[in-house]
Amino acid sequence: MNRLVVVSNRVPLPPGRTQAGGLAVALDGLMEQRGGLWFGWSGAVVATDPGCRVTVRQETGIDYATIDLSEEEYASYYNNFSNAVLWPLLHTMPELMSFDRRDAEVYRAVNARMAATLQPLLRADDLVWLHDFHLLPLPAALRALGVTHPIGFFLHVPFASPDVLAAAPAMASLVRDVLAADLIGFQTENDLNNFAAAAEAFADATRLAANVVMVNGRRVRLGVFPVEIEAHGFAEIAARSATNGAAERLRASLRGQDLILGVERLDPTKGLLQRLAALRRLLEQHPAWVRRATLLQIAAESRKDVGLYRTLRATLDREAGRLNGDFAEPDWQPLRLVSRAVDRTLIAGYMRLARVGLVTPLRDGMNLVAKEFVAAQDPADPGVLVLSRFAGAAQQLDAALLINPHDTDALAEAMLRALTMPLAERQERWEALWATIERRSPLAWGRAFVATLLRAAAIGPVSVRPGALAAARPAATPRGRALMLPEHEPPRAQFLPERAKLN
Ligand code: G6P
Repeated sequence: MNRLVVVSNRVPLPPGRTQAGGLAVALDGLMEQRGGLWFGWSGAVVATDPGCRVTVRQETGIDYATIDLSEEEYASYYNNFSNAVLWPLLHTMPELMSFDRRDAEVYRAVNARMAATLQPLLRADDLVWLHDFHLLPLPAALRALGVTHPIGFFLHVPFASPDVLAAAPAMASLVRDVLAADLIGFQTENDLNNFAAAAEAFADATRLAANVVMVNGRRVRLGVFPVEIEAHGFAEIAARSATNGAAERLRASLRGQDLILGVERLDPTKGLLQRLAALRRLLEQHPAWVRRATLLQIAAESRKDVGLYRTLRATLDREAGRLNGDFAEPDWQPLRLVSRAVDRTLIAGYMRLARVGLVTPLRDGMNLVAKEFVAAQDPADPGVLVLSRFAGAAQQLDAALLINPHDTDALAEAMLRALTMPLAERQERWEALWATIERRSPLAWGRAFVATLLRAAAIGPVSVRPGALAAARPAATPRGRALMLPEHEPPRAQFLPERAKLN
């Protein structure tokens, strides 16, 4: 069995993996079966040039290989280009982007260094799986060093339309670079379609089928693989945690009020200010809810060295203060804002206590909090999920109250509807949501990706006869059309199993 080499910006190094999310759990599971190497940034920033120094350690059968970043790399590759250019752009928030050519160069150079450091660690039969937007140039950087291994790339965040991406001058070449992978995976079909359009616009690719593009005589597979959670495991954690001291203290502090809960990293994509505006609207229009409900908003501060995030922190603090100042009474306030990270186990318990879960990002790749909120509920008395239709999770969790987070009235109405929803409807909605998540798992997600990568790489590059491309090019929308590929192309259905499971 091929060893699995995972590359991601952050490496969830043991110990401390108790906080590791679904991705780490899924990839651990796969790597334990196949043997694995996890490569990426150590999280350390060093004053001297780190060169190609790599630290390798082994734990429970998995090798962890990490590099450090220099101060300039941390600033330009991580803070500026990854978090202040790619992050807002891919989330279709180009107005928040601050582009500087030097940052783009350093971003590229860090990826080149990663490729040069990783290449000597690769064994002949490895499968290479790259993760997320920090590593867009890495497929091409590895190929440039002669790496011929199967390379899969999974994008955890959304992919914006080419019109939006064009705002960053570096974007066209990054799209070309990522196309050096054999398989490129996305959270939703919309992301996949945007990528295919960008491949056509920026890389002269031809979309041969819904999930195949041809570029420079090579076929590249595209696939939709929505990230999943371990729903049964999370449900157990939530049930246990709902009776521990922290959850009991929260319950007691509510004194019978309904709990509205939001949990996320403090991030401009999460729609936090819009959420506070909607709570304000709810209290203005329905003052009966004063003293009867309270919002606990956990907005864990992150990416503190990025100006955008510092500004948001200041704005959120100000708006939270105004909201509380305007509506609080001596013994009640509408909002409790926690800016520190809170242990995942405790959050599971808080979710089970909540009557309403607010997951209302302006744009989100998937949003696993939405799935966790569903898993955490007591089936006998479930809370209601209010979910942004711009989160990838909305494609699956359509039994939630789906809202547009920009529409303050709609969000306020959804909060009211959730607070007043009869038990029978809450149960019916929850059962539909649970049925969607409970039969999936992060491990199955990882296996589906790896199986598709193996198939995609087995076919290998194809040389195209003159004229064949024109014959193969779909005339209009590629969905639902007959696939016209060279004869040895396996049946199209083989590349769509992950979609067949979606509802
Ligand atoms: C998102 C990204 C991840 C990233 C995480 C935390 O979920 O998709 O790649 O690791 O945010 O952000 P950070 O910048 O702290 O790694």
